Amino acid sequence: SVLEMEVEQIKKGSYDHFMQKEIHEQPHSLKTTMRGRLKDGGVLLGGLKEYLKTIRRCRRVVFIGCGTSYNAALAARPFVEELTGIPVTMEVASDLLDRQGPIYREDTAVFVSQSGETADTLMALDYALENGALCVGITNTVGSTLSRKTHCGVHINAGCEIGVASTKAYTSQIVAMAMMALAIGSDQISTQARRDTIISGLNNLSSNVSEVLKLDVEMKELASSLIDSESLLVFGRGYNYATALEGALKVKEVALMHSEGMLAGEMKHGPLALVDENLPIIVIATRDACFSKQQSVIQQLLSRKGRLIVMCSRGDASAVCPSGSCRVIEVPEVADCLQPVINIIPLQLLAYHLTVLRGFDVDQPRNLAKSVTTQ
Ligand code: G6P
Repeated sequence: SVLEMEVEQIKKGSYDHFMQKEIHEQPHSLKTTMRGRLKDGGVLLGGLKEYLKTIRRCRRVVFIGCGTSYNAALAARPFVEELTGIPVTMEVASDLLDRQGPIYREDTAVFVSQSGETADTLMALDYALENGALCVGITNTVGSTLSRKTHCGVHINAGCEIGVASTKAYTSQIVAMAMMALAIGSDQISTQARRDTIISGLNNLSSNVSEVLKLDVEMKELASSLIDSESLLVFGRGYNYATALEGALKVKEVALMHSEGMLAGEMKHGPLALVDENLPIIVIATRDACFSKQQSVIQQLLSRKGRLIVMCSRGDASAVCPSGSCRVIEVPEVADCLQPVINIIPLQLLAYHLTVLRGFDVDQPRNLAKSVTTQ
């Protein structure tokens, strides 16, 4: 009805679409995720604190989720391993169920879900509960089935997300899991300096997110140069492997363009065969311990005449592409393990603009639902 349409427009404010609104909301949503939780140089997570001792004693952490929530967990994996010393394994919820994979009493199973109502994730939760694991929930929805059935957890407090493609929930999930990793690892003296660096990175994150959002016009331009492409590859590694998967997921789900995120370390084992002067390839090469490896990936792609778009830290354009033959996206540099929060934003903007330019429905992509509550 006309009234419903007007209410919709009021909720969107000055934005054309919910996805666009939610992308631009991230400086704020990340603040609400952290509000009241970073105190006196430490982290306080009320929903977890009674369970921290048990988690520290567990044999492994198993992350379980679907879609974007799985990708957020994948982004968290490296820093959870680093800050806790506990082995972390990853499970797509449906695949864990298909395999009836082993879950033990000594495991901490961490369920990640924006809605808290995804059928596959909830079935995997029942399965982990039956197997006696400690079950932790990371969700945006207070009172959801996930938050009621898990033993403990963290609400990400990103605010209501309406666009089917998850954007602000993804970055808030990563930040919630960073705080979780800091809390679990807080008894370790040897990593105190590292934790301090990450906490100060969290405190500055929102203003760096505001900075990276200024790439909006640049991403719209990039989108218009890619509008007729059939496919888009995204190469990442280390902290930003998840960024590659999530960037590609955004492009395929809303812009309806084939896109794959790939581990740059696997490039030589297959993907290199696809490279020619037409296929656009995004390479994520921001500063971290993998930087020099990514520099050599770029060189190898260029020597096969690859059409490259390189995401790098500010001021690194000539370090990543000395020949000047790549398109470069420069982003602010933050603590390496928080860089995925920054790096996904230009890719969210790219997917958004590609969708609008290609004339597709941004907030209700074809064949998809916000929450998949049936198996
Ligand atoms: C659906 C949505 C995705 C979402 C996934 C998991 O596929 O379209 O955007 O990432 O479900 O949803 P959840 O609510 O569990 O995070």
